[in-house]
Amino acid sequence: MEEIKVGLLGCGTVGSGVYKILQENKNSIANKSGAKLTVNKVLVKDTSQKLAVDVEKDLLTDDFEEIINDSEIDIIVELIGGVHPAKEFVLRALNSGRSVVTANKELIAKYGSEILSTADENGVDIYFEASVGGGIPIISPLKEDLAGNSVNKIMGIVNGTTNYILTKMGQEGAEFDEVLEKAQELGYAEADPTSDIAGHDAAYKLAILSSIGFESRVNIDEVYIEGITEIAKEDISYAKELGYKIKLLAIGKEDEGIEVRVHPTLIPKEHPLASVNDVFNAVFVEGDAIGEVMFYGPGAGQMPTGSAVVGDIITAARNIDFGAQGRIPCTCFEDKEFKPQAQTETS
Ligand code: NDP
Ligand code: HSE
Repeated sequence: MEEIKVGLLGCGTVGSGVYKILQENKNSIANKSGAKLTVNKVLVKDTSQKLAVDVEKDLLTDDFEEIINDSEIDIIVELIGGVHPAKEFVLRALNSGRSVVTANKELIAKYGSEILSTADENGVDIYFEASVGGGIPIISPLKEDLAGNSVNKIMGIVNGTTNYILTKMGQEGAEFDEVLEKAQELGYAEADPTSDIAGHDAAYKLAILSSIGFESRVNIDEVYIEGITEIAKEDISYAKELGYKIKLLAIGKEDEGIEVRVHPTLIPKEHPLASVNDVFNAVFVEGDAIGEVMFYGPGAGQMPTGSAVVGDIITAARNIDFGAQGRIPCTCFEDKEFKPQAQTETS
């Protein structure tokens, strides 16, 4: 059986989950990918630091050059997060002819266009299933299984940290700061959790979903963003008395122009999104052929996100095995009109 080698950039929450899954499920993964998948090197900031998973010492390096210059490595998996140096690493990996897997929504939302064209120019692929919805398969279904539809609406809860905070504030009367700290301990929050609570993380994800769904480049600047920092326990209690829950929604619509917004929203308690609690995410996609379809599952965390990343690694490995470029990027983007940025209103 052929061996396909992976270079892992970052071994934090998601990186350690990926390493664990590749070790623990190696036999079934080999069967499914048609190749033995081995991690050849792991990039960390400091090779003496304690990691959340046992990694053989001689796999660790703090020098990206050792990974990019390792001719045995076929797939590079970027899990360090943020824009710099992640962008430079990803572009160098693609330009070196390697396929890349990433969970980095900020990078894809801001530089997806440059990254996708670099992949295409080099005849390789960039896979980013884990960038939206943690473990939920959503990017691939939207690109492939729902490709026959004209999508007119994408709406849902796409940030696990804020949903966890709102749930705990509502159910247990917990304090915002305490629950945020707990979400950080559980590995749900971004390295800088401001991105979660201020709504930016949800906006990156909405920009990615809307670009694919509406076949247009939806720039992050087009998204109206309001986070949950102004929500008090009292707001949640009053909403409950009136029969509502407060959820941070990401809403994208296309109807004579594209409208994209992220903001706290009052949801009637009977609505399916009202029952999406804790770190779970749920996204409704409305298409002209399918009607409405809902994607639901764990939206963050080590193993669920690791699951999505490993799924992408297996797809990349299969394509390498068969000498095929995998998910050919959609080249059908049109420049569409945007509506003026919306103020908060219910969906
Ligand atoms: P972590 O902060 O837990 O892990 C990132 C790791 O990369 C840290 O150990 C960090 O070290 C290390 N790192 C950062 N920069 C460098 C560098 N230049 N060289 C070597 N190592 C570096 O983040 P997550 O694992 O949570 O997130 C990783 C990516 O996955 C992000 O893009 C995030 O948005 C995305 N994501 C995360 C999810 C989650 O549930 N956590 C879910 C979906 C996507 P140090 O800590 O010392 O800075
Ligand atoms: N910080 C993100 C969240 C991780 O809480 O949803 C998953 O993308």
